[in-house]
Amino acid sequence: MSVVSLDVNGFFDHVAGEAGIRRQEVENLAPRVAEVLRNLEAKRGNGELPFYELPYDANAVAAASDAAAGLRERFESLVVLGIGGSALGTRAAVEAVHKSQCAADALNVEVLDNVDPTTIADLLDRLDLKTTVFNVISKSGQTAETMSQFLLVRDRLLRELGAKRYRDNIIFTTDAESGLLRQIAQEEGFRTFPVPAGVGGRFSVLSAVGLLPIAAAGVDIAALCQGAREADERCRRTDIWHNPAALHAALLHIALEERGAGIHVLMPYADGLLSLAEWYAQLWAESLGKRLSLQGDVVETGQTPVRALGATDQHSQVQLYVEGPHDKVVSFIRVQEPAVDLQIPSGYDDIEGIAYLSGHTFGDLLNMEQTATELALGRAGRLTSTYVVDSLDASAVGQLFHTLECQTLVMGGLLGVDPLDQPGVEAGKLMTYALAGRGGYEDEAAAVKDRLALKKDELVID
Ligand code: PA5
Repeated sequence: MSVVSLDVNGFFDHVAGEAGIRRQEVENLAPRVAEVLRNLEAKRGNGELPFYELPYDANAVAAASDAAAGLRERFESLVVLGIGGSALGTRAAVEAVHKSQCAADALNVEVLDNVDPTTIADLLDRLDLKTTVFNVISKSGQTAETMSQFLLVRDRLLRELGAKRYRDNIIFTTDAESGLLRQIAQEEGFRTFPVPAGVGGRFSVLSAVGLLPIAAAGVDIAALCQGAREADERCRRTDIWHNPAALHAALLHIALEERGAGIHVLMPYADGLLSLAEWYAQLWAESLGKRLSLQGDVVETGQTPVRALGATDQHSQVQLYVEGPHDKVVSFIRVQEPAVDLQIPSGYDDIEGIAYLSGHTFGDLLNMEQTATELALGRAGRLTSTYVVDSLDASAVGQLFHTLECQTLVMGGLLGVDPLDQPGVEAGKLMTYALAGRGGYEDEAAAVKDRLALKKDELVID
């Protein structure tokens, strides 16, 4: 099993100098963090935060594993139709775990999380519909993007396979009780998997939402959940100095409130983790970016997540991070042992500017670049932290998922907001319904018309 540790040296004054955080500042915040942890434990005990228990649900793992094994016998590809929390976790896990660690008969898993017709058309052209199963994932069972994709796929499958057989190529993952997809499934007999009650999209990757497609991709979902359980043990520790989620949240909170660091960059040094950074961006943004506090006061708070990729973005964004405004924390993820490594061969031994590379591996070089960026940022008085992953397997991904989710809950508690709702997203969904002419949204349609009328033609430049 892989180990994921968190190095927070880069937050402190002994590394970042004047701008760095002092140990005493963390000690000062510790009682509030302890209170947040106690509140979370109490809510967890009352069953109000069911996402915490997902890694312990052996039945869900067994059901997803069995179903995935059956799908791998019958199909070549699985396409997730979903968006936001119904899509990003699957993509993150599938891309993170290298194929050498996946089942040999893994399905090709694709995630369609947009309604750009060019992407959809290209994907459907590439796939053989007969050997493709579509996993329609929507907790609410009515999100416009996902439902429009479903309508298109259903239509194509009906033509290709006929009315009797097309349902074999569609699986719904949706709320166990309510919603339009659940209703359609009941009326028409589609196969379904449940989104557990009380688990929101961005916290649902370890439910059937993620487990089924991730297992279909041949990733060991038992190890994924085992990793999450290990992280859970660490993230329940009451001593802030030994709890990675609590300590990181506390440091990010001090950085935000006391140092004006309104931006949190997550910068993995592994191509396979870029989608995990994207998953995290949604988690951090949608959970913490809130207008109202729990008491109903206007706070308009949050910390803007940015995803970056090392070493690639050293040559695009790092200039800004080292020398631009002191408004960011950069958190790295480094992988000690890549799943595959390559030796940099010798050549041009007489040219020192090239010869020094020989004898290193590409993995070494990537990690030296991470260290170099971390040191350069520290020397410039910028705050950093580093998740160190010894090897990037399913367990490590489970640990990262769960630790980052726990960190988000603690930060939500420190900011005094509800990390589980998303009223801003819902507002956008309602306006889309109104623009598309959905019945029952006439008042919203009138409001949308008024907003559009505010635009002035002279400010549209040809
Ligand atoms: O995290 C969330 O709650 C959102 O990102 C949702 O997952 C997203 O809006 C899709 O919603 P649904 O699963 O209801 O289609």
